[in-house]
Amino acid sequence: MGKVYVFDHPLIQHKLSYIRDKNTGTKEFRELVDEVAMLMAYEITREMPLKEIEIETPVTTCKTKVIAGKKVGLVPILRAGLGMVDGMLKLIPAAKVGHVGLYRDPETLEPVEYYVKLPSDINERELIVIDPMLATGGSAAAAVTALKNRGAQNLKLMCLIAAPEGIEKFQQLHPDIDIYVAAVDEQLNDHGYIVPGLGDAGDRLYGTK
Ligand code: URA
Repeated sequence: MGKVYVFDHPLIQHKLSYIRDKNTGTKEFRELVDEVAMLMAYEITREMPLKEIEIETPVTTCKTKVIAGKKVGLVPILRAGLGMVDGMLKLIPAAKVGHVGLYRDPETLEPVEYYVKLPSDINERELIVIDPMLATGGSAAAAVTALKNRGAQNLKLMCLIAAPEGIEKFQQLHPDIDIYVAAVDEQLNDHGYIVPGLGDAGDRLYGTK
């Protein structure tokens, strides 16, 4: 079974508190999400393999380490996932960015793909699927299925806040994938919102509603 990692760094937790606050306006919300995404990128890349190279400093030659191994791809789920991309790119600037758009079929209530655009070499990349809110788990699971169907081999899911129900559903459908979050909240309410959560992440990022 995939693991759930909660990033408990004090800066992430501090900023998440203000992200949750309903009195935080759009501009500050967007900035805080950007900052937390950057800090989460720092944490999620902690296990990246290094390789030794030789360089010349102004004083001498020395052996030193740089990141080796797989290239990274970020895959935000539209629309709210976009709010975390720039923050992550600040630390992983060479990452390529794919996009997955999903809507919920009004009759079956199942997520349906309406837009998928990915780097051509996703099978060689370490892909980080980004969705701020793991609520029912339906969209994240469908996005990961879409990526696996197109050849993705190495995937992680990164969210700001997850509901236990979403984690359970996602793990049932994708037991091979680890989940990285800043918080696991109490539950979903009858409208599918995470409690206590932060409201609608897309609306708060873009000032809609
Ligand atoms: N999507 C959101 O943006 N917020 C929730 O609480 C649940 C799903």
